[in-house]
Amino acid sequence: MVGAAVATTGAWLYSRARTDTVGDLAFEQPLHIPPVLDPEIDAEGRKVFGLRLQEGTTELVPGRQTKTWGANGSYLGPTLRASRGDAVAVHVDNDLPESTTLHWHGMHLPAAADGNPHQPIEPGASWSPRWEIDQPAATLWYHPHPHGQTADHVYRGVAGMFLIDDDSPLELPDDYGIDDVPLIVQDKRFGSDGSLDDSAPTLSTVGVLGDQILINGTHDPYFEATTSLVRFRVLNASNARVYNLGFADDRAYWLVGTDSGLLERPHGTTRVQLSPGERAEIVVEVDPGERAVLRSYSPELGVGFPQERFNGGDDTFDLLEIRGAEDLADSGSLPETLVEIDAPTEDEAVESRIFELTNAHTINGREMDLGRIDQVVEVDTTEVWEVTNDHGAPHSFHPHLIHFLVLDIDGEAPPPQLQGWKDTIYVPPGSTIRIIARFEDYADPETPYMFHCHVLRHEDRGMMGQFVVVEPGEVDTASRSVRAEGRHEH
Ligand code: C2O
Ligand code: CU
Ligand code: CU
Repeated sequence: MVGAAVATTGAWLYSRARTDTVGDLAFEQPLHIPPVLDPEIDAEGRKVFGLRLQEGTTELVPGRQTKTWGANGSYLGPTLRASRGDAVAVHVDNDLPESTTLHWHGMHLPAAADGNPHQPIEPGASWSPRWEIDQPAATLWYHPHPHGQTADHVYRGVAGMFLIDDDSPLELPDDYGIDDVPLIVQDKRFGSDGSLDDSAPTLSTVGVLGDQILINGTHDPYFEATTSLVRFRVLNASNARVYNLGFADDRAYWLVGTDSGLLERPHGTTRVQLSPGERAEIVVEVDPGERAVLRSYSPELGVGFPQERFNGGDDTFDLLEIRGAEDLADSGSLPETLVEIDAPTEDEAVESRIFELTNAHTINGREMDLGRIDQVVEVDTTEVWEVTNDHGAPHSFHPHLIHFLVLDIDGEAPPPQLQGWKDTIYVPPGSTIRIIARFEDYADPETPYMFHCHVLRHEDRGMMGQFVVVEPGEVDTASRSVRAEGRHEH
């Protein structure tokens, strides 16, 4: 009897756990384009950006008012933009009722400017990190990173893009908002009163999986294309959901960039999968007068039956309608090669570290402890990091400070979409991914960077650790204090 009841409940939960919005949207709202924030130039020539984190009310779905958070507005924030070589500063004011932080995801910068849990901004206080942009052109982003509260603060709406330019001459579409368009993809669940519902589904550890999609905060969006090629910079700024980008007519498009930089050459494909925190720059060809629907097909999570379904693996969503104008400006064709990647090689590597994901709240068996340094890296070295998911759930691994290349996945060379600079990567259950990175500068034995799962509920529950970058002479002292911390804890 009990067995039958459990089986019936299981079947009911299973059938209810699938979300499919294909065909449900009317595509009636013009896609909001986050404005590019103009910096002020200070006496030293630094670009100074101002972000004010604030509460507000936003009509995210028509006719319903939702209490939200944003930067310089009630939901999401403006796009920041700077070039390699620029000195920048961001003046962040916290008008929120809670302590938070603002982290520059993918940014190569000093640990004290990182905006991780060690740089809290209390309500009413402000924080002004400064650094120099020194990394390849890429689509980065910013979001809060307070210890234990990241999922909540991101879900309420604090996030934005941070675009990096460099001087490599490239014939890629680059007219912001016209043929170079940010797409911040987020899933939400709304209560009947319009409130944001972050309750987690049953039988899954990943946290909220919304049944509605917002792109740049727009529900039911369309974008009017006026050029024959459009570049979309897609950011998965969702707490837990994995998207598998494709078009309703299955047309091929080009992937030109991943998290932390452009690919060496455009990669023609019909699907690009993005786990939380990952980005893809894609270029789509548009015909005059046509309507093309960008969709998220069921992602391949690799978590098996029945967990696949409870983690969003069977879900499909219409995301955005692209409407081609009757007269499209001719964009020409894409360059055959984009950038040269100066790849670190395995024989440069002086250290190899192991990161084991065996549950949804630890890395290498340890929960995040702000007072413990887990890894000590010597500055000016190359390291191989080996990340293994021995757990049945989806995890997405993200180290701060560095961009990395994928060496191999279960011993195989990475597919084309994982051959460029990355800073976040999906690690399917049962897989081992080896990544390689240079730790070039910014030694600071006092101030750690984070590595963590970018499924935000996992991160908040402790699936995060800390590393410091130190001068050669400091390695021993730093590791001794790590061991002391370890003894102290257990
Ligand atoms: Cu996108 Cu540690 O964060
Ligand atoms: Cu980050
Ligand atoms: Cu995880």
